[in-house]
Amino acid sequence: NKKSVDDINVKGKRVLVRCDFNVPLKEGKITDENRLVAALPTIKKLIGDGGRVILCSHLGKPKGEPKPELSLAPVAVLLSELLGQEVKFAADPEVVGPNAKAAVDGMKDGDVVLLENTRYRAEETKNGEAFSKDLASLCEIYVDDAFGTAHRAHCSNVGVTQYVSEAAVGYLMQKEIDFHMCDVLCDWRARRPVEVCVDGTLKAVRPSLWPYNAYTTDRILFVGMFRLLSHCFG
Ligand code: 3PG
Repeated sequence: NKKSVDDINVKGKRVLVRCDFNVPLKEGKITDENRLVAALPTIKKLIGDGGRVILCSHLGKPKGEPKPELSLAPVAVLLSELLGQEVKFAADPEVVGPNAKAAVDGMKDGDVVLLENTRYRAEETKNGEAFSKDLASLCEIYVDDAFGTAHRAHCSNVGVTQYVSEAAVGYLMQKEIDFHMCDVLCDWRARRPVEVCVDGTLKAVRPSLWPYNAYTTDRILFVGMFRLLSHCFG
């Protein structure tokens, strides 16, 4: 059993929360706010308990360079509206820089700060030590609420946990663990039909798994076939 946000005392403490704010953008506007809405229960719980909430996420694939079109600035604006309080944006190209440090130093209990796109740092996707330590230096407690990134070993969801004294999962992650890992996967043989959806837009989808899926499942739904074929044969 993982420790959740219900099991930690965050009063007066700086809590770094890894969210999945990898939202679709069109001309700088967020076209689907679902991931932000889904993150609200954990954020509200931590605010309500008097934590100082520091949010971080990746957005797209800037490949270790600050790309203005992949800034998390629009997320801070929309999240402020959804939350009904200011989400202060720390616009550092190095993610943990002077803006982030000053914003965190000035936090009061219940305040919220959002860091810049974690993938602006090249070390992020390599799970590098320096960036993991930088992230950990901002907080006393780490909370992972980014299920969509749980299959990656990156600084903001794996490396950072080595340098914090306390870590827990958020409600969104807990829900996925309870529902998908336990309720469905542990019991999948008893639950028919088993359906698998293969997202062809993700490079990580391995054709070697298809025969396994074909054997264990009743129906496979492929989406993003064009990208899938280009990953395999391109
Ligand atoms: C997603 O949108 O699937 C997650 O945020 C993971 O994004 P990634 O595939 O760029 O790591």
